Amino acid sequence: MAPLIHVRDLTRDYRLIKKREGVAGGFVDLLRPRYRDLRAVDSVCFDIEAGEMVGYIGANGAGKSTTIKMLTGILTPTSGKVSVGGLVPWRDRLQYTRHIGVVFGQRTQLWWDLAVIESFRLLRKIYEVPENIYAEQMKVFDDLLGVGEFLHQPVRKLSLGQRMRCDLAAALLHRPRILFLDEPTIGLDVVAKESVRGFLREIRDLQGVTVILTTHDLGDIEQLCRRVIIIDKGEVHFDGELEDLRTRLGRRVRLTVDLREAVTADDLRKVTADLPVTWRDREGKNHVAEFRRAEVSGAEVIRQVVNDCQVSDLHLAEVDIEEIVRDIYRAAGKEKA
Ligand SMILES: Nc1ncnc2c1ncn2[C@@H]1O[C@H](COP(=O)(O)OP(=O)(O)OP(=O)(O)O)[C@@H](O)[C@H]1O
Ligand SMILES: [Mg+2]
Repeated sequence: MAPLIHVRDLTRDYRLIKKREGVAGGFVDLLRPRYRDLRAVDSVCFDIEAGEMVGYIGANGAGKSTTIKMLTGILTPTSGKVSVGGLVPWRDRLQYTRHIGVVFGQRTQLWWDLAVIESFRLLRKIYEVPENIYAEQMKVFDDLLGVGEFLHQPVRKLSLGQRMRCDLAAALLHRPRILFLDEPTIGLDVVAKESVRGFLREIRDLQGVTVILTTHDLGDIEQLCRRVIIIDKGEVHFDGELEDLRTRLGRRVRLTVDLREAVTADDLRKVTADLPVTWRDREGKNHVAEFRRAEVSGAEVIRQVVNDCQVSDLHLAEVDIEEIVRDIYRAAGKEKA
């Protein structure tokens, strides 16, 4: 069976004006602008099956939002192919919007001056949602997101967290098969983030919605997505399971030690000379080492350190996915440089 979302060689250029110098140059720019093209998304390919929750991540300006805009039909690509459930988003837009929900965390899709409930009623009309489905969805949103509390407030009076919850509800009102989320937790505090994540998990389990999610918060990814696609300068750099990403890069572990006496990193390098351990260049009582679990066990490293040094405290932690992804961005940048 064909995948629900099929993307091939998706490319999008933006035309930018090449600025000339100075005031005179500004005038010339107005009369005879010179252009250059910026490739924001470059030959992106992936397939997504129904029911998947995929994290689409990358640094600022990597091309995430541009991709989402093409997948939702807001932008037409420069070239390439997208088929979602047999529809082409930018061509079959009217029919397509019935099957998808979209949240752009950076700005609301709701009517600023209307009470939340009015926005929902309008959306119900626009999407022709049957009364019984509308009632069921509203109950789910109240149970899981607590939107009942502020239904009669105008959107402009809501806190960011309340507004985001309403945007999520609005996007799902017509019970779409696919939900596109562009930074749905941006600016939220820890509690509000947890509530959004919990809601997304529930809605996936309850209604089997397929989700593509962009975020800079890797906590979102760790809690929601088994699969991640990493994009850098418009190109896909990794597409696979989050767990795979971890093992591919080796489960890195970081050991922090506090010693009773100041030493140099070189002293510690001698202590663990026969082990594959990297000590950071530091002097003093606090030191940090990194190693891969596959190459050496934490117990072994600790044993050597404790044998040869006066340790007052130590802490072993896995290097989190955020750092791993940062390393990938950096490596990708270097390759191109
Ligand atoms: N409307 C536009 N006109 C010109 N250039 C644009 C436009 N929108 C985006 N770009 C450029 O395209 C590139 C990709 O932008 P995009 O918004 O897709 O990145 P992003 O991955 O969503 O970044 P962020 O994490 O900051 O949201 C950037 O270099 C950006 O400056
Ligand atoms: Mg963006």
